Amino acid sequence: MTENQNIMPQGAENEKPVIEFKGVSKTYPSGTHALDDVNIRINQGEFAFVVGSSGAGKSTFMKLIMREEKANTGVITVNGFNLTKMRRKSIPMLRRTMGIVFQDFRLIPKMNVFDNVAFAMHVVGADKRTIRKEVSKALSKVGLGEKARSMPNELSGGEQQRVGLARALVNSPDLIIADEPTGNVDPNMSYEIVSLLTEINKKGTTVLMVTHDHNLVRDFKHRVIMLDSGRIVADNIGGVEQ
Ligand SMILES: Nc1ncnc2c1ncn2[C@@H]1O[C@H](COP(=O)(O)OP(=O)(O)O)[C@@H](O)[C@H]1O
Ligand SMILES: [Mg+2]
Repeated sequence: MTENQNIMPQGAENEKPVIEFKGVSKTYPSGTHALDDVNIRINQGEFAFVVGSSGAGKSTFMKLIMREEKANTGVITVNGFNLTKMRRKSIPMLRRTMGIVFQDFRLIPKMNVFDNVAFAMHVVGADKRTIRKEVSKALSKVGLGEKARSMPNELSGGEQQRVGLARALVNSPDLIIADEPTGNVDPNMSYEIVSLLTEINKKGTTVLMVTHDHNLVRDFKHRVIMLDSGRIVADNIGGVEQ
């Protein structure tokens, strides 16, 4: 929640920007221009796919949002934080406002499903009782209530990604960002994961998801932001077919 929410006029709530890029460019030290003058606004409650060919700048776009990379020029605002001015020590505060889902799941192999999700809550200092309650809730939301004691290597790719989703959800973030979360799971499970994200989005969470999968983009009628060579070349707000 941002501070300026209180001073916003009634009715403008739905228009609250969660992510805003103004004239953002990113050039890596190697000289590669990954993003070139990107301007975009994603409001509270939106679901947006980010699409584009390999090398288009999609991951760079996501990394700038989580402040894993820094822009060279322009202004980025995420969940009320000005990322361009942000100091390194404030990054954890920013990350607590978002749930991140990774393509390669990034579960801790030695921890069971419950502990993998609980870990995300320990990090933010939640107490034991809250952790137990919220982890159970998150696991049943993703259909893994029965797998709490399983180890990651006993799960299918789709199940592992649902653990990743539960972990992203467990702190009730305002924003979920996912860079190709279905890249390593089979097509059926991809649909299930996007269905889950869509349900979560319907309850108010903003979702930004990179995908290569044209079928997902076609079948789920969400906003589609298309990048090509570091520029936004299409943006159909409202999920109108292209
Ligand atoms: N850490 C990095 N250092 C140098 N170049 C990079 C780095 N990460 C990405 N790039 C380059 O930036 C461009 C955009 O990459 P990326 O954002 O990963 O695209 P996408 O996710 O759409 O495939 C590519 O040309 C890629 O090679
Ligand atoms: Mg990528």
